[in-house]
Amino acid sequence: MSADTPLIRVVGLTHTYHPEGAPPLEALRGLDMQVCAGERVALVGANGSGKSTLARHLNALLLPTSGDVWIDGLNTRDAAHRRHIRALVGMVFQIPIDQIVATVVEEDVAFGPENLGVPRAELRERVRESLERVGMWELRQRPPHLLSPGQQQRVAIAAALAMRPRCLVLDEATAMLDPQGRRELWDRLDRLHADGLTLLYITHDMDDAARAERIIALHQGRVALDAPPARFFGNAEQVERLGLGLSTAAELARRLSRRFPTLPAPLTQDAAGLAQALLEWRP
Ligand SMILES: Nc1ncnc2c1ncn2[C@@H]1O[C@H](COP(=O)(O)OP(=O)(O)OP(=O)(O)O)[C@@H](O)[C@H]1O
Ligand SMILES: [Mg+2]
Repeated sequence: MSADTPLIRVVGLTHTYHPEGAPPLEALRGLDMQVCAGERVALVGANGSGKSTLARHLNALLLPTSGDVWIDGLNTRDAAHRRHIRALVGMVFQIPIDQIVATVVEEDVAFGPENLGVPRAELRERVRESLERVGMWELRQRPPHLLSPGQQQRVAIAAALAMRPRCLVLDEATAMLDPQGRRELWDRLDRLHADGLTLLYITHDMDDAARAERIIALHQGRVALDAPPARFFGNAEQVERLGLGLSTAAELARRLSRRFPTLPAPLTQDAAGLAQALLEWRP
């Protein structure tokens, strides 16, 4: 495989649900997108736009009605690759405790690789390394249900890391956490990304989205906008048409430029950069 093969390649992906007693529902309609190794991508979109459905295709929890999903060059339709794909793409969901299977933290983290048949010595090594990377090694013997939701979410991430993934997909993983829990989780995710892990995260928080290198917006099961934050939020009318808001910094920059037309527009899209630009501005 060549070095520029995208880690995630989704081509013409359609997904139709067949709910009992209701008509079929096309949640994804010929969706195309790619994520390269090492990228940090936010996935946004109104309720029901298809974000969670797409996420579940990325580690073969769902299979395409039509189209294809390739992970590191492997097609999710190929049953022979499915275990490997599930290790390559770790999933973290919204409700922390729902993802935890064991009654002791370290056993929960060991569960996945143990099922893959990883030998004992390596298993111990993986559990230790994964718990250290999320700052939970000291709490390894605790029962998960006695941890805070933020700590539980870090255990869920450690469980994914123990599979040695290339990518983490987080589906509103910080939505249940308080501000401090969120900050701690982002801090860990920042470090994992700096170490080379690819991040794809679903969020309704536009300030969280603004921290990505690229933002992909879904609308009715297709990609409607795919751009770096500055260009994404620079497109304010389209962002609003998609049922989304601006980041705090983008909204502030927009209001300021209405009141002070000589401000360089668009100003930067992150809060620190915006503050700096204002400090340096001379009318
Ligand atoms: N298991 C299911 N059976 C039937 N329809 C489903 C199922 N899961 C999702 N859908 C429908 O598919 C569409 C896309 O849902 P999905 O959960 O992917 O959206 P989402 O973008 O994640 O939304 P949210 O922001 O609310 O989480 C919606 O219309 C939803 O009602
Ligand atoms: Mg969802």
